[in-house]
Amino acid sequence: MPKWMSAKLEPYEASIFDVIGQLVRQQEGVVNLGQGFPDFDGPDLIKEAACQAIRDGHNQYAPMPGVPPLAKALHGKYLETTGIDFDPAREITILAGATEAMYAAITSICERGDEFIVFAPIYDTYVPIIEMNGGRAIEIPLEPPSFRFDPDRLRAAFSSKTKGIIINTPHNPTGTVFNRSELELIRDLCVANDTIAFTDEVYEYLVYDNHEHISMVSLDGMRERTVTISSTGKSFSMTGWKIGWVVAPPEATEAVRRLHQYIAFCIATPLQYGMAAGITHQAVLTAELREDLTAKRDWICQGLANLGFGITKPEGTYFVLADISPLTTSQDTEYVLELIRREEVRVATIPNSVFYMDQSVAPKNYLRFCFAKKTKTLELGLSQLAGIRG
Ligand SMILES: Cc1ncc(COP(=O)(O)O)c(C=O)c1O
Repeated sequence: MPKWMSAKLEPYEASIFDVIGQLVRQQEGVVNLGQGFPDFDGPDLIKEAACQAIRDGHNQYAPMPGVPPLAKALHGKYLETTGIDFDPAREITILAGATEAMYAAITSICERGDEFIVFAPIYDTYVPIIEMNGGRAIEIPLEPPSFRFDPDRLRAAFSSKTKGIIINTPHNPTGTVFNRSELELIRDLCVANDTIAFTDEVYEYLVYDNHEHISMVSLDGMRERTVTISSTGKSFSMTGWKIGWVVAPPEATEAVRRLHQYIAFCIATPLQYGMAAGITHQAVLTAELREDLTAKRDWICQGLANLGFGITKPEGTYFVLADISPLTTSQDTEYVLELIRREEVRVATIPNSVFYMDQSVAPKNYLRFCFAKKTKTLELGLSQLAGIRG
């Protein structure tokens, strides 16, 4: 028999996400507040623009780096948000979501033995990407309950081997939005150690109250050492379209494009046209979504607190980590399975500890709830969750 699976993939078994997904499918009446995407639809304006592109005959391969109207829209977006006049021809590339963007960016740069700093909890694709490329991930915790990093620990993690640092802000699953002084410290360490910052800004428009999303590339000294990654899935509640991008210095862009030509080559043409329209109308669409999500965040945080969970309100994203230690001595994974299975509850969430490499340092008393859901889904979820008192 042939050996089908390369050794590089063997460590990455089916995750708890699959296990939870399967349980939810098998069991009737489970309200899924675990899945990290909306159960409501995105703006008509974007759908219309994509349909128009299809009717106009934009149905063949797109140019490899992306269609000109989307590159132009992104150029305008970054000029406005960072003050930087990126050259679309040499610095902006459209890829299949932030996922392909991160894969292509790390793969095109990483050499065997390179180290990459990642903040834990860690979004699940980063470590496999680094390790499959022969790199090593160094985990720095965001420490509960405020979920911020310890500057001394971060300083100690940097060395001449530190090729990159991945900065996901706003951060999934903690909801932390890195502030200017945190980013400046990271900047100083990157400059001192000749390190590249890879950002994951997919929640860039989902920030609440007075919190501000700051793109690392906008900080002095970072333009020439930042690979900015983002996508439209979360900003426009259309995660299925998978339109993302890398904005990076010309040499890095050249490397990413070399790889992208052998992965996807190019990304769905009419969907790129649709998202170009979305980005052009970003201000209005973001204001609507942010208003809706702010109300949902406040409502779910209050509801969970009333049930006895410990809550730190998220500054951004559409997730809240709820502390279960006031309610149970169980660990998070065990408690998640219990809440799905228990007849009088049946609510699915995600255990925080799955987002850590080193289980010995992972806090095991947090569950991730996603509040990008219809009001009626959230109401049903919280009313079923009240069953934990039973
Ligand atoms: C932090 C983070 N990065 C990247 C992604 C994936 O983005 P995309 O759908 O654009 O590939 C997600 C999706 O949940 C995410 O939470």
